[in-house]
Amino acid sequence: MAKEKLKVLMVEDNPTDALVVKKRLQKDSAFDYEVTHVVSGEEALLSMEKNSYNIVLLDYNLPKMGGMEMLAEIKRKNIEVPVIMITGQGDEIVAAQLIKEGALDYLPKRENYEDAVPFIIRKTIAEFRSKLERVRLQKEIALRKEELEKTNAKLTELDRMKSDFVANVVHELKTPLTIIKGNLDNIDQGLAGEVQAKQKEILGDVFKVINRLSRLINDLLDLSKIESGKMELNKEGLDIVALAGEVMETFEILAAGKKIGLVKEFPEKTVTVNADKDKLTQVFINLIGNAIKFTDKGSVTVRIIELQGEAQVEIHDTGPGIPQDQADKIFDKFVRVVAEKKEGTGLGLPIAKDIIVLHKGRIRVESESGKGSRFIFIMPK
Ligand SMILES: Nc1ncnc2c1ncn2[C@@H]1O[C@H](COP(=O)(O)OP(=O)(O)OP(=O)(O)O)[C@@H](O)[C@H]1O
Ligand SMILES: [Mg+2]
Repeated sequence: MAKEKLKVLMVEDNPTDALVVKKRLQKDSAFDYEVTHVVSGEEALLSMEKNSYNIVLLDYNLPKMGGMEMLAEIKRKNIEVPVIMITGQGDEIVAAQLIKEGALDYLPKRENYEDAVPFIIRKTIAEFRSKLERVRLQKEIALRKEELEKTNAKLTELDRMKSDFVANVVHELKTPLTIIKGNLDNIDQGLAGEVQAKQKEILGDVFKVINRLSRLINDLLDLSKIESGKMELNKEGLDIVALAGEVMETFEILAAGKKIGLVKEFPEKTVTVNADKDKLTQVFINLIGNAIKFTDKGSVTVRIIELQGEAQVEIHDTGPGIPQDQADKIFDKFVRVVAEKKEGTGLGLPIAKDIIVLHKGRIRVESESGKGSRFIFIMPK
């Protein structure tokens, strides 16, 4: 393989020293050296402006412009080149200063110092190149970071616009729906004339759909409030045991209709958590409602356990369970396990989760397909 060409600028006022080093480099096999020799700093700077060098061997003890001044000039002119300073005997003390000024390395002119020149060149070139690579990578990383930040800002803005849009649309749907429901209520109550049995039956079906629609609208409004950070919590000291009991009572008829047992496993005493009553009620409704909806036989159990600084609520059912690979996804909006043919939109769990997280609590599900589900949430006290 052809050797890599290395352009060396040697700044050396002593012709013998220059010749010795040149000869030594010719014997070295690492590079194909092309040495340009100049005898003063002034000449070196001129040459560096016209040519580009891979490395500079700079004599510290030059007449007129000395090595230190040269370094400063190279820096001032922004010339990116590694410099090895050749110091005289006893000049080693200035070494630290040289490095600080930008020399990559230094070599004292001892007996046979020329033998060390190829090694120090190799080392300096390797260091210089890895430094360049590091700088290049850092720049690239900074650029990428900037791009990502811009994209992220754009996405956040788009997401906000989308949320605002949804919130507005949903809000606009609410008013006409309320009017429709009010008018149908009037008809249903006979205010517009006698209602016949068949008409009542049809009205009953329409009311079911209206209720579903109005629940969906409220869910979407809740979610958009949470997502935009506008949902406020009115926290108070709440007995979570009593609250769970109240919500369970409202489900008794539904459960009895499906012949499903509703079981309480509550502690004897009250367990107080610091929470928003309406929101926490919503969490119980969504979780217990799901448990009853998806369970066709067996029972639904609500268990409350008092922990250190926290209350743990578990809702177990004997329903179909949730396949492992779906367990994380069901907390996302509009996700429904395909196998289920029950009514719903897929908003109940995301709302419950958002409310719990807003309270700095957490929720998870443990389930195996066919073995029932166990939703567990933990609320800080
Ligand atoms: N107790 C459960 N047993 C089995 N699957 C469940 C249970 N709870 C939730 N799931 C699954 O998770 C999905 C998401 O539940 P989520 O409450 O968010 O929506 P949904 O009940 O389908 O609709 P919505 O709550 O909006 O009326 C459900 O569609 C169902 O597939
Ligand atoms: Mg649900």
